[in-house]
Amino acid sequence: MVKDDIASIVKGEIEAFGHSMGEDFFIQELEIDPFSEFIVLEIDGKIGGYFGLLIHDTIEIMNLYVKKEYQGLGFGNIMMDFIINLCIDAKAPALSLEVRESNNRAINLYKKFDLKDVARRKQYYDDGEDAILMVREFEVK
Ligand SMILES: CC(C)(COP(=O)(O)OP(=O)(O)OC[C@H]1O[C@@H](n2cnc3c(N)ncnc32)[C@H](O)[C@@H]1OP(=O)(O)O)[C@@H](O)C(=O)NCCC(=O)NCCS
Repeated sequence: MVKDDIASIVKGEIEAFGHSMGEDFFIQELEIDPFSEFIVLEIDGKIGGYFGLLIHDTIEIMNLYVKKEYQGLGFGNIMMDFIINLCIDAKAPALSLEVRESNNRAINLYKKFDLKDVARRKQYYDDGEDAILMVREFEVK
């Protein structure tokens, strides 16, 4: 992600989630935070989605979406495949994320990539919905 991508990413987040972390958040993350990484999905020269990772010892998916018009076409699979390979290359011991308990599409996607439902975070979201914590561990040699 570069600065010029931010406005489109924020718009896409609002479409996908009804809210966004906002332009200032992304500007700050790009400029300051050495532990975050934002990768844009580009389809035919247009921004089709993105994912954000927090990279410490383990790797956490902060957010991930595919724009509505491109959903159901395999791009979620492509992004998850990329993330799993990144974890293996980085020798990360684990990949984790939180997802709304009602978000079956995303939960199915993560299960497909061997993330397991390990815990529930009660009333994690502003509207009171619980989050499911999903984790995949990697054998690091
Ligand atoms: C969840 C999301 C990223 C999936 O991306 P996508 O490009 O639509 O997914 P794909 O077409 O690559 O499908 C990947 C897998 O997701 C699951 N999936 C996709 N669409 C689904 C649907 N309508 N119902 C149930 N599962 C579905 C399936 O497991 C699918 O695997 P398959 O291809 O073997 O059937 C996308 O729907 C999205 O951006 N949703 C809104 C934002 C969001 O919820 N992000 C996750 C926040 S934690």
